[in-house]
Amino acid sequence: MKIIKLVSIWNPKGGQGKSTLAINLAAASVELGLKPLIICQDPQGTSLLYYKSGNLSFEVVDSVPTDRPDADIVIFDHQASDWEVPKNHLIVMPLKPARDQYATYIDAYRRAELLGKKIITVVTDGQEHRANEKDTIDYLKSEGACVIPSSGVFSRAASEYITIFDQKMNKAYKIRERRMEINKILAAILIENEETKNDN
Ligand SMILES: Nc1ncnc2c1ncn2[C@@H]1O[C@H](COP(=O)(O)OP(=O)(O)OP(=O)(O)O)[C@@H](O)[C@H]1O
Ligand SMILES: [Mg+2]
Repeated sequence: MKIIKLVSIWNPKGGQGKSTLAINLAAASVELGLKPLIICQDPQGTSLLYYKSGNLSFEVVDSVPTDRPDADIVIFDHQASDWEVPKNHLIVMPLKPARDQYATYIDAYRRAELLGKKIITVVTDGQEHRANEKDTIDYLKSEGACVIPSSGVFSRAASEYITIFDQKMNKAYKIRERRMEINKILAAILIENEETKNDN
């Protein structure tokens, strides 16, 4: 009996790092010997573009498969302005810690919390030298959030439609740190108990 881990990457605010996290978490799970599948909930979405570029070692599909997929972990890459709390129990919520973006996260987080969801917050693209961002980052960290600092490796990888785990990125600045941060988030996902059983 195969266990499939289901996780939604969700924040209704656009450009918070959902797709970046989805494809890099999938790449990290390949490194662990797992088979990931991304369900890109935006037909024009970023993760689908990566897949179409042909550089990924895992599959991205544009809708929920009718049959139970042959995968160990299924990652739902939600689109911007998707206000509805995802059905999956486990939700990863990325946010960039600039002030105007924080409000949407708080609202979405509270609604997910009311529904009893398990939420992993990931601060993305944070600039600790900016005082207002540092306060937000420190607070979220104290509440257990994972943190990925602002880093050029993501745009560099994005410009070639590859993940930061691609060997072409091996010599990029602080790539080990960035990979470790993604691995840590993956570990937090995998350690969660709520799983869907597959009787294949
Ligand atoms: N830690 C980071 N450091 C620097 N840039 C980052 C970081 N995380 C994400 N980005 C950049 O932020 C931008 C938006 O990321 P992404 O497309 O993943 O967001 P999204 O939430 O999926 O957006 P949308 O809501 O439009 O689907 C991208 O250019 C990405 O490279
Ligand atoms: Mg996206």
